[in-house]
Amino acid sequence: MKLSHRITHLTPSGSDGWEVFNKAREMIASGRSVIELTIGEHDIRTHPSILDAMHVSAKGGHTGYASVPGTTALRTAVAKRIQTRTGVPTTADNIMITPGGQSGLCAAHTAVCSEGDTALYIDPYYATYPGTIRSVGAHPVAIPAHPENAFQPHVTDIARHAKGATSLMVNSPNNPTGAVYSLETMQTIAEQCIKHDLWLISDEVYDTQIWDGTHISPRALPDMAARTLVIGSMSKSHAMTGSRVGWVCGPDHVIEHLINLATHTTYGLPGYIQDAALFALNEGTPLETEIAAPFARRRQITQTLLDTQNTVKGSPIQGAMYAMLDIRTTGMTGITFANALLDTHQIATMPGESFGAAAAGHIRVAMTIDDDTYTSALQTLLDFAARNAA
Ligand SMILES: Cc1ncc(COP(=O)(O)O)c(C=O)c1O
Repeated sequence: MKLSHRITHLTPSGSDGWEVFNKAREMIASGRSVIELTIGEHDIRTHPSILDAMHVSAKGGHTGYASVPGTTALRTAVAKRIQTRTGVPTTADNIMITPGGQSGLCAAHTAVCSEGDTALYIDPYYATYPGTIRSVGAHPVAIPAHPENAFQPHVTDIARHAKGATSLMVNSPNNPTGAVYSLETMQTIAEQCIKHDLWLISDEVYDTQIWDGTHISPRALPDMAARTLVIGSMSKSHAMTGSRVGWVCGPDHVIEHLINLATHTTYGLPGYIQDAALFALNEGTPLETEIAAPFARRRQITQTLLDTQNTVKGSPIQGAMYAMLDIRTTGMTGITFANALLDTHQIATMPGESFGAAAAGHIRVAMTIDDDTYTSALQTLLDFAARNAA
């Protein structure tokens, strides 16, 4: 039986950029010890107090079908968080709770893109972006952001692709580059969206991990609230990756359609997860700061070690849990370097090429293991680069 073109062409055949990751996992499965600096997931688990709230809710009976758009209490709490941080008037009607940010990204594109539309995204990019766009029948087109510009997108690159497109997806703080888009960058993005009548899909799942600069939500820029859909998530801010809870924030008429979509797809998410998320949000910034703290420390470790050498150049780690390292002085591609490092030192990193052409000659290091192991793995990586430098 024939499968749909949409499902069989979701991801291109051939290399999917995860070969080094898969090889590391195979080595681990065969009993070898590998240090994994690959995946964007905390080395701590969900906070016990959040699990307690989940347990109490489930035991209390919140295990049946929950409200499809999300509970009013959680939608209201998310709206309040967004309004407090951005100053943009936001109510529960602007929020739909989704099973994670990933599902929010897909819902947002479903809302704005028709079959065959062009949907733009910035390269380097979070690995699922092009597939998410293809999953709704749209055509993904990458706009490069260059290492020479600290991976901030430039107006000429956006303008070159914007004409005739339907949407633009941006992500700040950025995975994989660690860039936090400046006010100037966000204003440029907003101007281009208005000029070319684009929807803006703003992936802000790392908004609690800012080390340098200020998080600007483009929805707060003049005339942008009506054309912006913001994606949020509890995965990174509250170490709740497995709970699958996120949201889309946008104009209420879009949210109404998204609720209809959820009714016919996900049918919402479990009530006890939503109650745990509500508890976590009500804990406010102290809990978020506690969860983000290990990455702040490891960012400092990274900068200190990078300053001791001049083979590997780090892109500014302004936010998120990753360091994007330029290894071009070794003459290797990111793929060759990551494979060689894994083979010789059993340290797994992600080749920059896994995240698009703009990150070629780089590797992404996830700062997601304990400080001591991280320090020695990074030192080994830098020594390896120095030995291989041309
Ligand atoms: C940039 C970015 N967006 C979205 C997601 C999806 O996160 P989740 O679906 O767990 O909320 C991730 C996960 O790594 C990410 O890095």
